Amino acid sequence: MKNLVDKLYETHNLEDSELKLLLEADGSIDEYLFSLSDKRRQEIYGKDVYLRGLIEITNYCKNNCYYCGIRCGNTKLERYRLTKEDILDCCEQGYNLGYRTFVMQGGEDPFFTDDYMCEIISSIHTKYPDCAITLSLGEKEMESYQAYYNAGARRYLLRQETANEEHYRKLHNASMSSEHRKKCLFNLKEIGYQVGTGIMVGSPYQTTENIIEDLRFMQKLNPEMIGIGPFLTHPDTPFASEKNGSLELTLRLIAILRLLFPYALIPSTTALGTISPMGREKGLKAGANVVMPNLSPTRFRKLYSLYENKICTGEEAAECRQCLEKRVQTAGYQIVTAVGDCIRSDVKPSVK
Ligand code: 5AD
Ligand code: FES
Repeated sequence: MKNLVDKLYETHNLEDSELKLLLEADGSIDEYLFSLSDKRRQEIYGKDVYLRGLIEITNYCKNNCYYCGIRCGNTKLERYRLTKEDILDCCEQGYNLGYRTFVMQGGEDPFFTDDYMCEIISSIHTKYPDCAITLSLGEKEMESYQAYYNAGARRYLLRQETANEEHYRKLHNASMSSEHRKKCLFNLKEIGYQVGTGIMVGSPYQTTENIIEDLRFMQKLNPEMIGIGPFLTHPDTPFASEKNGSLELTLRLIAILRLLFPYALIPSTTALGTISPMGREKGLKAGANVVMPNLSPTRFRKLYSLYENKICTGEEAAECRQCLEKRVQTAGYQIVTAVGDCIRSDVKPSVK
C-alpha cells in the first residue's frame, strides 16, 4: 500500500484499481498517506492557510435535494434573505478583520434576480477593489454567470455532488441532472472564472466507484478549488435516517486530492468540523489549506441549516475568525490575510 502512496506522490495519478485499493484500505495507511500529502502541501504552500469569508445570503431555495436542510420541501424552516445593506455590512466587518475574499452563498432563490445580484457585486467590487468576490448560488444560465463576471465576480463554487448520473438521480428530484450541473461548471470555466467543485463524502448510495468517477471528472475540469465534507443527516429531509459520512474517509480523500491536485485550494470544511470537534484541524494536517469562517449575521446562522448540529451557529459564532486562527495555529499552520490572501493559486500553473 505504501508503494501506491509513493506512486501517487510522484506521478500525481493512479489507476482506477489502485485508487480503489487506497480508498478502501484500512486505517493503517493513513499516517503515511498524510505525511506525504502534508509534505506536498508544504512544498507548494508552506504553512499558509487562506481565509474565505462566507456570507450566507439566503436560505430560500427552489430546489428539493433529498439531503439538504434548506430544500423547498422543508416547510418547518423559517426563511430569511439578507439585504444588500446587510451583505455590505458583512463585507465591512470582514474587511476590517483582514478578509480579502468574500463568498456569497445561498439557495437557488429567484428573489435575487441577475440585476439585483449584479448591483450587489458591483457595490462590493467598487468599495473593495482589492478583494476577490466569490459566488456560490447554484445552477444558472450562461448569461447570468457572464453578467456576474462582468459585474466583478471572479470565482464560483458549485460542487458537482456526484459526477455519476445514476447516483445523482438518487440524491435529487427529476428536475435536476448531473449533466446540467457539469455543463454549468464548464460554462463557468469558459467565462474565465476560477472554479471550485466537490462532493459530499458518504452520501447515500455512494460507492467507491462513484468517488473514482468524481476524481476523474475533477481531472477533466481542473478546478482551482475542491471542497469536500462528510454527508450529514438533517432530520427534516428524506435522508433523515441515513448514515452520516465518515471523518476517516473524508480525511483520506483530502490527502488523495492534495496528491492528485498539488496546487488546488482545499478547504477544511464546516461539515468536517461538525462531524468531529477537531475535524478541521485534522483536515489541515491531511492536506487542506483553506478555512471559510462564517461572516453571516449571527441572528440568521441557525437558519442556514444544510445539516444537523452545524457548528458556528450559536453563542460562539461571532468569534469564528479568532476561533479559526487558534485552530489553524494548533494544527501547526498560519492564516495569511490581506495581500497574500488569494494571489498564489492565480499564478501557479496547474499540474496535469
Ligand atoms: N451534509 C453535508 N453537506 C451538505 N451539503 C448540503 N447538504 C448537506 C448535508 N446534509 C453541501 C452540498 C452543497 C454545499 C453547499 O453543502 O455539497 O454543495
Ligand atoms: Fe466559527 Fe469556531 S469557526 S466558532
